[in-house]
Amino acid sequence: MQLCFATNNQHKIKEVRALLPATFTLLSLQDIGCAEELAEEQNTIPGNSFQKADYVFRNYGVACFADDSGLEVDSLNGAPGVDSAYYAGPQRSFDDNMNLLLKNLQEHTNRMAQFRTVITLITPDLTQQFEGILRGQILHEKRGTEGFGYDPLFLPDGFTHTLAEMALEDKNKISHRSKAMAKLIQYLTNLG
Ligand code: IMP
Repeated sequence: MQLCFATNNQHKIKEVRALLPATFTLLSLQDIGCAEELAEEQNTIPGNSFQKADYVFRNYGVACFADDSGLEVDSLNGAPGVDSAYYAGPQRSFDDNMNLLLKNLQEHTNRMAQFRTVITLITPDLTQQFEGILRGQILHEKRGTEGFGYDPLFLPDGFTHTLAEMALEDKNKISHRSKAMAKLIQYLTNLG
């Protein structure tokens, strides 16, 4: 089955390709000729996930799914959340975002947080959403060089390595995105 993953993030394409069974052909936006930036104008993670999948389905007529993720920190009332990519400004710098997070957490002892992904699948017959959550805590210093985003600051519950200290295949076993993807894949498999 051909499915477009509506993202321009090559890290994610790589992660998801490693998770998909061979029966699925994963198409990128480039593969379907979509060169425009997909708008994310909603104020929730599920809203942005739907907006991107809906745009690609309506304009390119291909079955597709889109994800939207964010880091939700308990003592910051869920921030940065839907603003995770732009937390420190429009430059979308991973380092700037992490530094701002460390600063905003300075006064807080509760450093529990979660990554959340919502995937929206749209085919001619249905629209369905899938959620994945990874709980953990925000460290006081960055550790590791793998991955992207807030990975160097995030210590998953039950682990001694941050997401940035893990190999991609180990992160893929526990990540919010892989949990949401597993639900998507199970659903698609049941559909036949
Ligand atoms: P997106 O909507 O999935 O692109 O995620 C928005 C932002 O959340 C990213 O730019 C990252 O800052 C952060 N984020 C999402 N997933 C991850 C992850 O697996 N590790 C670290 N940061 C992430």
